[in-house]
Amino acid sequence: MHLLCLAAMLVVLFNNFSVLQRGPSYMRFVVNSTEFPSQDYHGCAIVGSSTTGYTFTQSLPQSYRVLLLELGGVPYGGKPKLMTRGGLLSTLTEVDEYDSPAQAFLSEDGVHTGGILGGSRAINAGFYSLADPDFCLKSDVDWDLALDNQSYEWVEKEIVFRPELRNWQSAVRDGLLEAGVDPFHGFTLDHRVETKIVGSTFDGAGRRHSSADLLNNANAANIKVAVYANVERVLVASTAQLAGPRQTTIGVVYWDRNGKYHHAMVRPNGEVLLSAGAIGSPQLLLLSGIGPRPYLSSWGIPVAYHLPYVGQYLYDNPRNGISIVPPMPPEQSLIQVVGITKVGAYLEAASNVVPFSTPPRSVFIRTPSPPLYITVATLMEKISGPMVRFSYFSDPVNVEKCVNGTRKIGEILRTRSMRYFMFREWFGSSRFRFVGPPLPDDQIGLLSDGKVLQAHCHHYMASPRWLCCGVIGSPRVVDGSTFAISPAN
Ligand SMILES: *[C@@H]1O[C@H](CO)[C@@H](O)[C@H](O)[C@H]1NC(C)=O
Ligand SMILES: *[C@@H]1O[C@H](CO)[C@@H](O)[C@H](O)[C@H]1NC(C)=O
Ligand SMILES: *[C@@H]1O[C@H](CO)[C@@H](O)[C@H](O)[C@H]1NC(C)=O
Repeated sequence: MHLLCLAAMLVVLFNNFSVLQRGPSYMRFVVNSTEFPSQDYHGCAIVGSSTTGYTFTQSLPQSYRVLLLELGGVPYGGKPKLMTRGGLLSTLTEVDEYDSPAQAFLSEDGVHTGGILGGSRAINAGFYSLADPDFCLKSDVDWDLALDNQSYEWVEKEIVFRPELRNWQSAVRDGLLEAGVDPFHGFTLDHRVETKIVGSTFDGAGRRHSSADLLNNANAANIKVAVYANVERVLVASTAQLAGPRQTTIGVVYWDRNGKYHHAMVRPNGEVLLSAGAIGSPQLLLLSGIGPRPYLSSWGIPVAYHLPYVGQYLYDNPRNGISIVPPMPPEQSLIQVVGITKVGAYLEAASNVVPFSTPPRSVFIRTPSPPLYITVATLMEKISGPMVRFSYFSDPVNVEKCVNGTRKIGEILRTRSMRYFMFREWFGSSRFRFVGPPLPDDQIGLLSDGKVLQAHCHHYMASPRWLCCGVIGSPRVVDGSTFAISPAN
């Protein structure tokens, strides 16, 4: 028995060692796009290596030769911050035009998309929870729910972990319960209203896992992954003389990091799949001439197929919250506990080390020389997605949901579980030290004043998770852009 355990441990150690030495096993079929010929043929070309893009490679016949095209590089090697829980903020804030895993999308709202193998799943906070069954009903997708359940099981086995709560996350759990977001469901991946512990794609050692890990199971004989491949458009050919659809996709055009163009063509009966994400997929459709005719014409893009709703109906989950500096630094944590309230808000918490450049007057610092880091504990609320016109909260219902969530944050801050995170002042009083805007009136005295809270809600902009374009056409689009609504968590 002991020998067996030791052998198992040695195998684990050896595997970890070999991963460090050679990289993950998927590196065998990951190739820099500069090394691809200027034209080649495949059974199927998939644009985008997000969860859906990858999962699709698993469902294709073994005989299909699949090309998976990814804009960014691999989450391995020169990106140690990306791979750790503590590196999340740097990953999201250190954005450059060319090589960062987080890619800025041109908007006033600070939207980031993932430019890395594994897609946005490889740069996010790693929260894993199944959708509300109501979402499945309203998403406009004809789900096979039994198959859907099976599909999640193997993904969960590979990359979802049960988080261990430490001080901040435990306090938030207790605070949620004290503030009436009860009962507590314990750890569950299922959607449950009220408080629960969710799954995390960070393992016990704080290492990130993403859909890129799933590639380790792929059959190296029939898949190639081209990284640093910037897909510019889908090639649509007219087949007017044939019966059936008038247009068919025959390949994609992409350029590599040397600026050289490549044509990845699909064989007859092959197909092009877009899973470039909620922003990427509709953008590629539009660049390929598939979209609303007047819009395409206004940009001088020849119309391949008039599809009126491409790029419309974007939804988002606005986020709003407070951050405090506790007297004792809490653990670093990303979302582990969630409170799903009946008043339309999802409450979550995180605690991160952040660089601290402008100390508020109340903190006495003897030597103000950099670098200075503090651990900030954050309590936030999200609401299920209002439609994005990049002017959030123009709809009063959304403002009301946000106000409801902010009010709940106030209630949690007033619970006993939160006292540990307050500073003791002279004369025995205690207060929170907020980083950024505090809740209205600091001690939340004005909770009943909806107007003050509304101002708070308007202050923040969001970072979207799912945006919808509401189109399914040719080429097939397989990602969140096809959902008619956006799940809130
Ligand atoms: C890919 O190839 C280009 C051009 O040779 C090079 O600049 C780039 O560093 C390569 N990237 C990787 C990750 O090998
Ligand atoms: C899928 O799983 C959920 C929860 O695990 C369960 O409630 C539901 O009945 C399952 N659906 C089907 C069709 O198997
Ligand atoms: C906000 O909360 C109140 C109860 O406190 C509830 O009646 C109302 O429906 C909530 N608003 C929304 C938009 O969910």
